[in-house]
Amino acid sequence: MMHHLHRKTCPLRLTALLPSATVMMLALPAQAFFHGAPDIESGRAIYEARCASCHGANLEGQPNWQSGNEDGTYPAPPHNETGHTWHHGDEMLTDYIRRGGQAVLDSMGVAFSSGMPGFGDELTENDIEAVLDYIRSTWPDRIRAAQAERGRLERGAP
Ligand code: HEC
Repeated sequence: MMHHLHRKTCPLRLTALLPSATVMMLALPAQAFFHGAPDIESGRAIYEARCASCHGANLEGQPNWQSGNEDGTYPAPPHNETGHTWHHGDEMLTDYIRRGGQAVLDSMGVAFSSGMPGFGDELTENDIEAVLDYIRSTWPDRIRAAQAERGRLERGAP
């Protein structure tokens, strides 16, 4: 049912419970969205070394990322505002990067064959936070605000 509709472009989308109206948030200064001091430069270096080969040097994703591969996986989506990374809060994104897509989706009971490797053995929690800081730093304020709101709602905070 819903599963089939959404699975096409983003398996994690199954967990995005929010109507898009909640996305229209006020534009807070960019700094408000970083926990502590953002380490954007080291995040960029990690991104280029570990992520760009699939997600693109300019976060543009792989060609035809919305169409499935023959093996049932999907190509890597963009991390810029045209993708759906920003539809998910930080905790979920961190978990996806740490454990990889398959482990996360298996534990959520989502039947999906993931092409996203886990980096928990190679990257520290600070590294993962830095990569996310870098990715967020490329977004316009309104997208950063929308993503911060997703995170608050996923955590069940007011
Ligand atoms: C071997 C290719 C590959 C590499 C390398 C890779 N990814 Fe991915 N990634 C994917 C694919 C494919 C997906 C699509 C979803 C799936 O298959 O689970 C994905 C999905 C994601 C998602 C979820 C996006 C969403 O909107 O649901 C995040 C976040 C992510 N990757 C971050 C990273 C980061 C950060 C790195 C580098 C540390 C990285 N990826 C390296 C292939 C890759």
